[in-house]
Amino acid sequence: MMDTRQVIEEYLSSDDFRLALSPPESEPLRQYYFIGLLRRWVHTREEALGRSLYACTNTFGCQMNARDSEKMEGVLTAAGFVPTEKEEEVDLIIYNTCTVRENANTRVYGRLGYLNSLKKKHPDLLIALCGCMMQEAHVVEKIRKSYRFVDIVFGTHNVHKFAELIWERISGGCMVVDIWDRADRIVEDLPASRKYFFKSGVNISFGCNNFCSYCIVPYVRGRERSRAPEDILAEVRRLASDGVVEIMLLGQNVNSYGKDLAEPMSFAELLRRVSEVEGIERIRFMTSHPKDLSQELIDAMAALPKVCRHLHLPVQSGSSRILEKMNRRYTKEQYLDLVHRLKAAVPDISLTTDIIVGFPGETEEDFLETMDVVRQVCYDSCYTFIYSKRTGTPAASMPDQVPEDVIKDRFDRLLALVGECSAKRTAMHLGETVPVLVEEVNDHDSHMVTGRMDNNLLVHFPAGSRLIGQIVPVRLTECRGFYYIGELVLEK
Ligand code: SAH
Ligand code: SF4
Ligand code: F3S
Repeated sequence: MMDTRQVIEEYLSSDDFRLALSPPESEPLRQYYFIGLLRRWVHTREEALGRSLYACTNTFGCQMNARDSEKMEGVLTAAGFVPTEKEEEVDLIIYNTCTVRENANTRVYGRLGYLNSLKKKHPDLLIALCGCMMQEAHVVEKIRKSYRFVDIVFGTHNVHKFAELIWERISGGCMVVDIWDRADRIVEDLPASRKYFFKSGVNISFGCNNFCSYCIVPYVRGRERSRAPEDILAEVRRLASDGVVEIMLLGQNVNSYGKDLAEPMSFAELLRRVSEVEGIERIRFMTSHPKDLSQELIDAMAALPKVCRHLHLPVQSGSSRILEKMNRRYTKEQYLDLVHRLKAAVPDISLTTDIIVGFPGETEEDFLETMDVVRQVCYDSCYTFIYSKRTGTPAASMPDQVPEDVIKDRFDRLLALVGECSAKRTAMHLGETVPVLVEEVNDHDSHMVTGRMDNNLLVHFPAGSRLIGQIVPVRLTECRGFYYIGELVLEK
């Protein structure tokens, strides 16, 4: 199978590139062309400076952003930049932003002040801002006005144009702003780097059609678009042949995958096909909207051994009244029924969730319904969020915004209960021998490694770094709250 990097190298050494007078119109060739121009530019700069050119990516938000960042890093590496985490000594810095809650926004503005001081010290530094925040007109307005030192601003729909945008900035000399209000297509076959050599995210759909009333994502990520199954499978096969053993299929709502395709395909069917790829040993996916979770998917999870026994199933609230206001389109009873069916089909399934506290109009009774769901489901872990008002969403103009002190009190009570459930669930595996994917050398003790169980729990155990990327049997000897200490079981 052809590797994207190989395809780029072949193009860049061809006459098509060397003799080209203008960029090709079609993608991804057009971006390969700009990667080629950047590579020459990077090389000239390196000669002049007597050192490499460094680039640093800062990623906020969810797995979608993380994957987009890997794509940008893939382009930068192909262009000859060296990735680094040290912001102080970089030549190009990217902030891939999130706007799902106000605090994600505030953090970026906070960092911009620092970037300004950095640029004063290094005037050649290129600063790029992208991601979900940039899809909001008021944000871009503010950057144009008050943050003139920023070099490149682009959004979520044109990440594939990254090479071209950098070129535009270095050849044009002034701030480049390119925001699309929708995506016209999905550009395939661009390079992507990976944080871990043995696991990778794979986009299966982009955008969201659900318009939960509190959520900004559909506005900044656009309508739902599924990738063609052939493209997904080709990427998974390429990753497998490159040493990847675990993949995470990514979409805002993977359960509605494929409904928009010319030849519709269910998510369960996609899972079956991905499961057939040799070399892939573990499959995860995120996120599942409860309203679209089919019995077919439950059955597929039970039947396919490579699919991890873990499901992230955001409930958001346990009150049917609030769920309706949130436009989630399921009730407390329907959610609990789903959980019962999941537990019946996959007895050891680990369930995790997202909960919002303080949605407008949430009463004590509503909150107690949420506590009741947490108690009944007994989640392995739970991401709890304080409701954050997002301008432009229906919930932002709903009456009865809940006072801060009430939210704080509810949040603390929820956190205590969630902690109890997680501790109970985590402790259940003590003494078991389980398959663990070894991810890295332990942060605190270099004689230990850290790995992940199928249900997403971490295990630390004595072993060497040569096991990184392998799935090995580990006996769980000690439970320390939310993780385990274990020992490698040597196979006879
Ligand atoms: N598509 C995914 C999640 C996307 S955002 C899903 O539907 O599950 C991740 C989480 O952020 C959401 O599940 C929700 O719990 C939280 N969230 C989204 N908007 C929020 C807001 N305005 N305030 C607080 N939390 C929010
Ligand atoms: Fe937001 Fe709802 Fe879409 Fe998730 S499903 S991204 S919470 S609108
Ligand atoms: Fe944030 Fe965008 Fe993800 S708003 S949560 S980075 S889709």
